Amino acid sequence: MKSLDLLAEARLDPDIKFDHSLPKNAFSESWLQPQSILLTGVTGFVGAHLLVELIQKTKATIYCLVRCDDFAAGTERIKANLEHYLLWQEAFTTRIITIKGDLAKPHFDLSREQFEELSDRIDVIYHNGAWVNSFYPYATLKAANVLATQEILRLASYPKVKPIHFISTIGVFFSPYYFTDNLIDRAIKETDLPTSETLKGGYKQSKWVAEQLILKAKEKGLPACIYRPGRIMGHSKTGIAGNLKDILYLAIKACIAMGKFPDIDTTLNIVPIDYVSQAIVYLSQQKASLAQQSQEHISFHLLNPQPIPWKKLIQEIQGFGYNLEETHYKTWVEELKKYAKARNDKELYSISRLFFNSQIKLFARKPLFDIERIREGLANTSISCPTIDRKLLSVYLSYWQKIGEIPESDRSPEPRQNFSRTFSSSPDIHTIDIHSEK
Ligand SMILES: NC(=O)c1ccc[n+]([C@@H]2O[C@H](COP(=O)([O-])OP(=O)(O)OC[C@H]3O[C@@H](n4cnc5c(N)ncnc54)[C@H](OP(=O)(O)O)[C@@H]3O)[C@@H](O)[C@H]2O)c1
Repeated sequence: MKSLDLLAEARLDPDIKFDHSLPKNAFSESWLQPQSILLTGVTGFVGAHLLVELIQKTKATIYCLVRCDDFAAGTERIKANLEHYLLWQEAFTTRIITIKGDLAKPHFDLSREQFEELSDRIDVIYHNGAWVNSFYPYATLKAANVLATQEILRLASYPKVKPIHFISTIGVFFSPYYFTDNLIDRAIKETDLPTSETLKGGYKQSKWVAEQLILKAKEKGLPACIYRPGRIMGHSKTGIAGNLKDILYLAIKACIAMGKFPDIDTTLNIVPIDYVSQAIVYLSQQKASLAQQSQEHISFHLLNPQPIPWKKLIQEIQGFGYNLEETHYKTWVEELKKYAKARNDKELYSISRLFFNSQIKLFARKPLFDIERIREGLANTSISCPTIDRKLLSVYLSYWQKIGEIPESDRSPEPRQNFSRTFSSSPDIHTIDIHSEK
């Protein structure tokens, strides 16, 4: 079988050019105050929050590329997704235009005329859509994650050049290369370029190649910025999360089910989705994020400045009345298998298999990341990453209890959430009220 050559994969179609419509280092005000924005991945977790943030923080019409049968079905998908996250307001309909399209197909399956018209209208692109799947190989994910990025670059290139804000992942640095003794304690800077050396996993590989395409386009004159979030968890006010199959969430669920936790010394980095979406939209509106003069690679690491040690996380969970006993990791995995088998619990059994294979991913010592640039970028704002503390965990555990993913404990998390919300009449102001029920 031919081995995968990621450097060769990162080849930008030479027909895609960015030097025709703007003098070198020019800057267009429409990049910061766009009338029309293209957003991809709006039916997903991050996309839903980015959409609301863009509606609230810009005056633009947001064009949303959605897989669907027709315009009406696409709009319904967007609405249903926002409703799921308690984000929907009827007034949003005037700000959203649905485009039926598929990222994995040439020109997104639009006709040439439609593609050109879209290209003509858009001022700024937020490319967030991707096939987020850590099991499939690179070849399977290539169309949705790599070729789609090339099509986004094509769209950004003519008739006028428009900036791309690309949502990547901190996972592009999770290769054994960065886990070696001499590198693991050297904080990875936001100006560092990830290497593809030893990078495994189709998803991370596809995001790495997509980043390279963006960087190659940047060298050719495209204004672009890369955002690399870490593990994104639920909204800090409602707890509603996108991926309940995330391995950390599954680990916590398994611990609670068995009443045992593995004795691992590691720290975990969790970023709530509201921080991620607010930070991306704010940073994308700053001239410095797109400045072409800078020879430096522009990216931001969206990580929690205060990761939480695994054992502290467990202590907090214990504080909510879940009795958890410390167990050796290998024993914990074995016991989890037996526990799941005895109850014929297929999900827990598959979790145990996952942990058997994935100890390194979740529980290994991880490289350090510098977040100076994002700290500076958000310094004069009220946007800050919530600390992973009792309050945040209370919101998460309440939500998981409410949807029946974990059992009620002796002591329920406080304050209990009833997930009610109020919206002001203005589409630009959106508040979520959480009421205490002591
Ligand atoms: N969640 C995290 O913890 C995390 C962490 C770091 C980075 N990220 C990045 O954040 C971005 C969004 O992730 P997410 O967690 O929101 O994932 P998600 O919930 O799975 O959403 C993915 C979105 O991409 C769309 N998409 C996938 N393939 C498509 C295609 N062929 N055509 C059109 N749309 C397509 C999906 O549309 P459908 O609804 O039609 O499938 C969905 O709207 C990704 O770029 C990911 O790499 C996420």
